[in-house]
Amino acid sequence: MDRRKFLLKSGVAISAGSLLAACNTSPASSPVTPSNELSFDTWEDIRKQFLFNPDRIHMSQMLLAAHPKMVRDAIQKHRDELDQNPVEYWESNFLNTENEIRKKASEYMDTLPEEIALTDSTTMGLAILYNGLKLTSANEILTTTHDHYATEKSLEYATARSGASINRVSLYNDPSKASVDEMVEVLRKGITPKTKIVAITFVHSCTGVKTPVKQIAAMIKEQNSNRSEVDRIYLCVDGVHGFGIENISVHDLGCDFFAAGTHKWIFGPRGTGVLYAKKEAWNMIGPVIPSFEYNCYAAWLDLFPADKLTYADLCSPGGFHSFDHRWSLGEAFQFQLNIGKARVEERSHQLTTKLKEGLASMNHIKLITPMNMEVSAGINCFDVEGMKPEDVVKKLLTKKIIASESPYKGSHVRLTPSIINTEAEVDICLRELEHIKDTA
Ligand SMILES: Cc1ncc(COP(=O)(O)O)c(C=O)c1O
Repeated sequence: MDRRKFLLKSGVAISAGSLLAACNTSPASSPVTPSNELSFDTWEDIRKQFLFNPDRIHMSQMLLAAHPKMVRDAIQKHRDELDQNPVEYWESNFLNTENEIRKKASEYMDTLPEEIALTDSTTMGLAILYNGLKLTSANEILTTTHDHYATEKSLEYATARSGASINRVSLYNDPSKASVDEMVEVLRKGITPKTKIVAITFVHSCTGVKTPVKQIAAMIKEQNSNRSEVDRIYLCVDGVHGFGIENISVHDLGCDFFAAGTHKWIFGPRGTGVLYAKKEAWNMIGPVIPSFEYNCYAAWLDLFPADKLTYADLCSPGGFHSFDHRWSLGEAFQFQLNIGKARVEERSHQLTTKLKEGLASMNHIKLITPMNMEVSAGINCFDVEGMKPEDVVKKLLTKKIIASESPYKGSHVRLTPSIINTEAEVDICLRELEHIKDTA
């Protein structure tokens, strides 16, 4: 590959100086603030790395994350450089930075770097996934009644184009009693000879139920052992609400595709995400949005063999991005690695269990999410007798507690403690909920 020729031909090189810089500059994704300057010893140390408004209890980080110091510093550095010299700074970094971020993401996810496409959100990842799948009218997609709007709409658009059909099943009737065996069995029974895709969500944001992805993947593997390669079933997961909370290896989960925004539980830059595709599944997906990856442009210019392009090359959507945010994603994964995945899961489960036990003890509250952590993660849904979810959320806000209402038909109140919260904050939430009907 002749980089110089490529840069000149593609018009991205401005000067010989910038070309040299492009080849010599170290990746911008290396942590701007060395991790040893920050303490990760206690949860209080970690909490101090955020700029939260201290007069609120932030119990909705599942929607949109605040940036920890490492991420804020990286964004600021890139922003300053881009403001001072946008094109030259971009040129100096674009060759290496995103590959370095993929390496950091793959360290966190336990995947290969080239199995990761960088996206802007879960929604973008799901749309690229479902619309990029090579489906025909002979194919059926098995999905569920519990998935997010972003999955439903992406499947709707994909099937309208391909003629594939959808078979939608309910994994449980009463979410609080959902079980691993029941969920696996419902999906197993939903598979027909036409099934090509199983499209599920890791943690349902409507009920807080965590689906047993690993067991579902094992069940599909067993089904595939009786099918030829062309009839193989692929497992696609919206993973956003387990990612950054459950101590998982995405590779070990066994799914073929995994889409997740990194601006929720990962505490990454707002407007970032990843779409994983297992190497053995690459032949099932094609690009939807032209990639601006170096090799793709080079292949277009006949400077790189098109058959050597990886999934990450082809399926990372192109166009120029908000690079100050995108290039700071490596720091978010480093932030998580510095804390440790096992510690994150333990703390999140501890706070969420404390909250659920308190909620379950109140007669006027109906807990929707199962108590069992085998089938739940960090989203806790509940109803308050005689009150609409939106009124509960409003009432909690008057007490400076930021809760959310699940945006589904049949919505519930959600409280989603994470590593930035404390036991004392959970206690305050429970105290306010105990008296929430007093002045309703
Ligand atoms: C299950 C689920 N998937 C996808 C999304 C959309 O995520 P993003 O904002 O990253 O597109 C949400 C929103 O919180 C969600 O709950």
